[in-house]
Parts: sequence; structure tokens; C-alpha cells
Amino acid sequence: MANKPVNALSKAIRTGLIDAMNMALANDNVEAIVITSELALFSAGADISEFSSGDLAPILPDVLTLVENSSKPVVAAVNGGAFGGGLELALACHYRLSTNHNKVGLPEVHLGILPGAGGTQRLPRLIAPEKALQMIVTGAPTSVKAISELFVSIVEPSELLVQAIKVAKQAVGKVIPATSLIKLSSSPEIEALCEQTKVQTSAKARGFFAPAKCIEAVKAAFELPFAQGLKREGELFEECMHTPQARAQQHFFFAERVAGALPQIAKDTALRDIKQVAIIGAGTMGGGIAMNFANVGIPVVLLELEQAALDKGLELIRRNYENSAKKGKLTQEQVEQRMELLTGTTSYDDLSEVDLVIEAVFEKMSVKKQVFEALDKVCKPGAILASNTSTLDLDEIAQCTSREQDVIGLHFFSPANVMKLLEIVQGAKTADDVIKTAMHLAKTIKKVGVLVGVCFGFVGNRMIEVYGREAGRLMLEGATPQQIDKVIYDFGLPMGPFTMGDMAGLDIGYFVRQSRKEFISHDPSYCTVADELVEAGRVGLKAGKGVYLYDAGSRSPIPDPSVLDIAKRKAKELGIQRRDISDQEILERCIYPLINEGANILLEGIAQRASDIDVIYVYGYGFPVYRGGPMKFADEIGVKEVLARMKHYETALGEYGKHWFTPSPLLEELAQKQQTFAGFKA
Ligand code: 3HC
Ligand code: NAI
Repeated sequence: MANKPVNALSKAIRTGLIDAMNMALANDNVEAIVITSELALFSAGADISEFSSGDLAPILPDVLTLVENSSKPVVAAVNGGAFGGGLELALACHYRLSTNHNKVGLPEVHLGILPGAGGTQRLPRLIAPEKALQMIVTGAPTSVKAISELFVSIVEPSELLVQAIKVAKQAVGKVIPATSLIKLSSSPEIEALCEQTKVQTSAKARGFFAPAKCIEAVKAAFELPFAQGLKREGELFEECMHTPQARAQQHFFFAERVAGALPQIAKDTALRDIKQVAIIGAGTMGGGIAMNFANVGIPVVLLELEQAALDKGLELIRRNYENSAKKGKLTQEQVEQRMELLTGTTSYDDLSEVDLVIEAVFEKMSVKKQVFEALDKVCKPGAILASNTSTLDLDEIAQCTSREQDVIGLHFFSPANVMKLLEIVQGAKTADDVIKTAMHLAKTIKKVGVLVGVCFGFVGNRMIEVYGREAGRLMLEGATPQQIDKVIYDFGLPMGPFTMGDMAGLDIGYFVRQSRKEFISHDPSYCTVADELVEAGRVGLKAGKGVYLYDAGSRSPIPDPSVLDIAKRKAKELGIQRRDISDQEILERCIYPLINEGANILLEGIAQRASDIDVIYVYGYGFPVYRGGPMKFADEIGVKEVLARMKHYETALGEYGKHWFTPSPLLEELAQKQQTFAGFKA
């Protein structure tokens, strides 16, 4: 197989496999068949881009039946990763060999489906049921050595083809060991295994549809004869394939990959070398950011103005690494290696040789400016100067240097060593090679980079602001924080807006609001309960009290009736009539303005594509991937419906609605043209 880039089993490859099999079967000179790949991968499985076309003939299960029923032995020489249909192809072969450092897997569950070409029926016939179930339900890639029973042998890459041909020759004239002939039967142990996996999965993959179907399909392998099991797998596959979840997860697969594309930048633009990094500020973000680089072997200098703050920052990093070591994720040796890559300084003179500086000091323009002026003086020409600001004007920061082209925003999310998202903020004058280098760097440190433009809060925080505003307003109008949090949690986010606010610290939003009074002062209801809480020292989890109360050492929110009393008093002062609010209204009022803001962001060119916003929301804010992200969710329920509900609230909520629920012109345009966000081109 040689279908670049990943040997996806497209129509051409499926047809090619059928033709090649038929040719080999018809040719008397052919005694046995070896299937392998000319590329670095064996195969990434079915061609996902074909799924939406509906034209999947000849279907993969039929191709694999032809392979398995072959009267001549077929050997799979698995020369690289074999995933999904790619692994299923190997399972249908009579013998398998693999190279030694290889990984294989059945990741269909991440696409909202299940292995639909016999994987759920053949894998449990070839490896232990618990291993097969784990591979299918989690979709995680597995080292071939962990499932060595699947292979006749596991060899050096240079030996693979020679050995595969040897196995093929030895098989000639012998009984062909078809996987489908292996008999399985159910037992109380299998029942218990499936039940236990179901319980584990419902907690780990809350809200996902496909994992339970995967378990059902594997169970069928034990309960039904092969042919019937295959049929059952096909039915369950179809059931999954036509869900909004499958469409959303498949959308996200491509969204994540396209996010890194920079079509506006010339292909031959050279990257800048990043061999040494400096971070200014060793606080919450600076420490986490530094760890990302140390984790991939890039040395980092951390700068604080005071030795005590520096020591504290380095100590916190060490504690984080030690905790990972305690959990068995790192060895003590790795902890020491990483700590050795981190050095501290209180002098800017130590930054003269670094290739990249990331500033992560207090979110205050005057402080940021001081830092960039100092960097401008000391950094070598060509060094990239980045800011981790979450809301401030990057262009204003850049202007206080003599090298605006080298200034960029690298907006990490907290905890910076864990969260996958990196918003890469392009300033008015940021050079193309700086943007390209930043995108490349994101990959190096195992993040997903998304390019965004300059505006208040960029993409993620600009959108989250409207969501927080609505949550606060709904509390004034009659909903409780618990009700609002539950609606959002049930929708699929890891926590609701109030739990999230408490966790991040209510003071963060408070200080942002203080600096933006001119935009919100016309609305006295704007986050007014949160403001009162902060002013009373209730800044969230870190204080043991915010919107909720927390027992010492606990992160479990305890509802506090006194917060509702504040909401009631404020509502009275503001003349807001409290009422019962339905869960549906809560959902629409939190999510639709978020989508609306996303539409404005697209219109302004702050994001390149709607799918980029989806990537930001899934990786930065825990938006459920099975909804594809907010813009995909809008496409799924219909742009017209979102528009209609925005218009409804625009009138139903009086002055408040008139101000905050104005539909984006893009929402109007797409609804009128019956288009989707996915189809929108700036
Ligand atoms: N179908 C279509 N395109 C695919 C694809 C697939 N199965 N797998 C990868 N691609 C494309 C990507 O979109 C990307 O395209 P681009 O260059 O235009 O952006 C290109 O191939 C390279 O992909 P990656 O950037 O992801 O390459 P990596 O080297 O980082 O990763 C991989 C390789 C691990 C194979 C990863 O691509 C992957 O996980 N692919 C999907 C595997 C999968 O989910 N397979 C199951 C498919 S469903 C199935 O088989 C159903 C069956 O049971 C009936
Ligand atoms: P923090 O208060 O935890 O850390 C800031 C650190 O900078 C402190 O250690 C302080 O001593 C140091 N510092 C202050 N002024 C300095 C100067 N002039 N020179 C050198 N060091 C200086 O703050 P945090 O949360 O790490 O935030 C830093 C930046 O990251 C801010 O711009 C913030 O908006 C942004 N950010 C914060 C996120 C969060 O969730 N905390 C998320 C994303 C971005």
C-alpha cells in the first residue's frame, strides 16, 4: 500500500486490495501473499474524509472477508503504526509480523464510532479479552510488545520483509488459520469484565455515546457466532456513525489538524532556532510554562526581581515534578535532569543569549511595558519576545520595543504544563517567520497552537466573558448557582461557570472588570454579585470561600444560601423580577451568546476559521469534544435556530437583552444564506 500520507484505506486502496487479491488468487505462480506498506505507517485505517460522502463501497468489511477467506495464506508485515481499519486489515490476515518499536490501536472511539471492519470480533479472538476491551474502549495506541501474542514475530525493521516472506512460504500447503474460526463463548467472568468496564467508562468518558457501544460489540463476540457477531458490530457501527457525536468528533479530528495550517505564510519561510528560552516571572504561569520546555530538553532561564520569589517559583516546579515522580510518571533521575535545565536569575544581563523570552508577570500594562523595554535593551537581535498576557493589547506592548516584528503573544492556559492549548497572538507587525516558529514550537512542546489576532481577551477569554456575564445575570433573575452549574455540567463541560470561577479565583475577573469599566458601567447588573464577593474577600477556592464554600483541603463546592441572599437583594435594588428559570433557558443564555461572540470574532478576522474556535474551546475550556466545539454545536442545531433564540432574548430581556443579545451580522448572514460556520470563509 502506498497512499500518502498515512495509507488511509480510501476507495482506491480498497479497490486496489480487492484487485490485487483477485490477481494473486488467479495466478498459479502465486503461492502466498504478503501485505505491507511503502510508507512509514502500515495504515491509519479508513479514510475519515470519506465518511460524510456516504459512498463507502466497496466496504472495508467485505475487503477483509476476501482477505480472510483467501485460499492462499496472507501475511501482514506491519512495518509501522496500524490503526483502526489498518489494524483490522492485519487481523484479517492469517499471520502477522511487526517491527519492534511499533504501536497499533483501534482509535475509532475517538471518532464517535467503533471498529466496524471486524475489529471488535477478531481482536478478542487473538488476545486476552481484557486487553482487547481496553484497546477498543479507550482507543489508546498499544505497543506491539504488550500484545505480542498477536504476532508470529516482532523483528527489527530491516528484517521484516525477509521474515514475512519466510512465514508466507512456510505456510504454503498448510491449513490456513482463519481468525473467524476461533470459537469464543461467554462466561460469568466475561460478563463481569464488561460490566466493570462499563462502570469505569461511564465515569471516565461521561456523556460519550460510543464507548458503551464498543463494549456491546465486544460482548457480542463472546455471545454470538462470528458471522452474527460481525453483523451486530455492523449494526452498532451504523448506530454510532449517524449520531451528532460522531459528526462532532470527526469534525474535531480535522479541526485539530487544520489549526496548524498557515496558508498566508510562504512555504519557504525559514524557522528561527529556539535553543534557549527565558521566562520572566516564576509565578503560577511562568513556572508551568518553564516546565513545558524542560520536559522536551530545552534549557530555560527564569527571571524574577527578588531572589525569594525566584526560589519560591523553582521550589514549586520541583514539587510538581516530585509529585509526578510519586505517581510513577517520572523517575527521580528525570526529575533531576529537568531541574538541571532550569536556572534562575534576578539579572536581565543573563538573557543576552536566549532565542525566546516569554513574559509572565502581573497582568498590568505598566509592568509589562517595563519588562519589554528591558528586554529590548538586552536581548540579541532576532530573539523572539513573547507575552503571556491574557487580555492586554499586544500591540501596545510591542510598541515599547524597537522590534515590533519580533513580538508575539504566547497565551498559555492554566495549568500551563498540562493544558494542551496555546493561543498564538499575532500583533499588527509580527513577522511571518516569528508566527511560523511559534506554531512549530507549539508542536515541539506538545501543544496545539491556534493563531489568533489582537483584541480584548483574544478568542478564548473574549468569549468566556459573555458566558460568565450571563451566568451572573441568571443568578440575579432567579436561578441558583447550583442549577446553572448543573446545566453546564450536564451539557458536558467539566464544571459549571461558578465552580470554574471559584477555582480560577474570582479576583482575576474582578481586576479585569476594574480595568474595563467604560465597557460595562452602563449595566449595573454586570457580575455585581461576584464583585461584592471579591470585595468581601471571598475570592474562591484559594480563600475557602467564593460563590461556594469549601472545607479545608477540599475542592468540593458547598452551596451557600447567603450568596443567594446577595443575589436577591441586588435583584431588588436593580428592579429585576426574580422568576423560575428553565434549564433550557440557562443553556441557551450561556452558550448562544458565546457562539454569537465567536461569530463576531470570525467577522473581525481575529480567528482564521470557525474550527479554530472549536479547538480553543475544547482544549482551553473543556467544551465537550462530542459536541465538536461551540461553532460546530451551532452548525449542528442550526445557525437559524441560534439566531432565532438570540432575537427572542433580545426582546424578551428588555434593555438588558437589547444591549447584550444583538445578533452578530455573521449569524444573520449565514442564516439568511442557509450556510454553516464550517463553510464560512473570511
Ligand atoms: N483518514 C483520512 N485522513 C487521515 C487519516 C485517516 N484515517 N489519518 C490521518 N489523516 C490525515 C490527517 O488529516 C493529516 O492530513 P493533513 O496533512 O492534510 O493535515 C495527515 O493525514 C497526517 O496526519 P497527522 O498529522 O495526524 O499525522 P501524524 O503522523 O501526527 O499521526 C496517525 C499519524 C497516528 C495515524 C494519526 O493521523 C491518526 O491518529 N489518524 C487517525 C487514525 C484513526 O482514527 N483511524 C481510524 C479511522 S476509522 C476506521 O478505521 C473505521 C473502521 O473501523 C471501519
Ligand atoms: P502570578 O502572580 O502567579 O505570577 C506573576 C509573577 O511575576 C510573580 O512571581 C511576580 O513576582 C513576578 N513579577 C511581577 N513583576 C515582575 C517583573 N517586573 N519582573 C519579573 N518578575 C515579575 O501571576 P500569573 O497567574 O502567573 O499570571 C502571569 C501572567 O499570565 C498574567 O499576564 C496573566 O494574565 C497571564 N495568565 C494567567 C493565567 C492564570 O490562569 N493565572 C492564564 C493565562 C495567562
